[in-house]
Amino acid sequence: MTRMTNGTASDRERWNAKFLAGEGQSLEPDPFVIEVCARLAPGRALDLAGGAGRHALWLARHGWDATLADLSDEGLAIAGKRAEEARFVLQLRREPAEESLAWAAAKAPFDLIVVVWCLLREQFPVLPSALAPGGTLLYKTRTSDHLRYTEGHSLRTALQPGELRMAFPALKTILYREANGVAELVARSGTGLG
Ligand SMILES: C[S@@+](CC[C@H](N)C(=O)[O-])C[C@H]1O[C@@H](n2cnc3c(N)ncnc32)[C@H](O)[C@@H]1O
Repeated sequence: MTRMTNGTASDRERWNAKFLAGEGQSLEPDPFVIEVCARLAPGRALDLAGGAGRHALWLARHGWDATLADLSDEGLAIAGKRAEEARFVLQLRREPAEESLAWAAAKAPFDLIVVVWCLLREQFPVLPSALAPGGTLLYKTRTSDHLRYTEGHSLRTALQPGELRMAFPALKTILYREANGVAELVARSGTGLG
C-alpha cells in the first residue's frame, strides 16, 4: 500500500470519486494562468495538484515542457487521454504534492510552478526549493472570506485572508491580489547572480 502523508489516501479517494462523477473536468484554463504565463518564456513547468490537467495542457500547447502532478489517478487518466488525443507530451506524476516537490528540489527544479484551487499549506516552506533560479510561482486559491465558506464548505481548504501574501518569504513578490475571497500570487526566485 502507498504510504501517504500530507495528501491522505482518503483525499485521493474523494478526488477520484469527484472526477468519476464528472466534476473538475473543464478544459478552460483559469484566466490568471493565461494572463501571467503568456508573458513568460517557456521552460519546464509543473502543474501541481493539477487535476485533469487544464493548465498543464495549456502550457504544453504553448511550448512548455509540462509536468502534471496530482494525487488522483482519475484526474491524471483524463489528462493523459487529452494529451494523447491532442498529441502533446505531458509528464504525469501520481503522488502527493510533498513528493513532487521533494523530487523536483533534488533532481529537476522547475522554471514555473502553477497551483490553482488547492491549499498546500504544509508545503509552503519547501515549495521555493522546487523552483530553478529565476523561476516563477503562480498560486491562486480561496480564502476564508469566500462566499462558499458561508454556504457550508469546509474551511479546511481555505487560506486565511492575507496568508498567501506572506507565505513565501524566500521569493520576490511580483503580483498579489486578493478580492472576494480569492487570493492570487506571482512570485519569483532569485537568479543566484550577484
Ligand atoms: C479543485 S482541484 C483543482 C485542479 C486544478 N488545479 C485545476 O485548477 O483545474 C484540486 C486538485 O488537487 C488535488 N490534490 C488535493 N490535495 C493534494 C495533495 N496533497 N497533493 C497533490 N494533489 C492534491 C486533487 O486531487 C485535485 O485534483
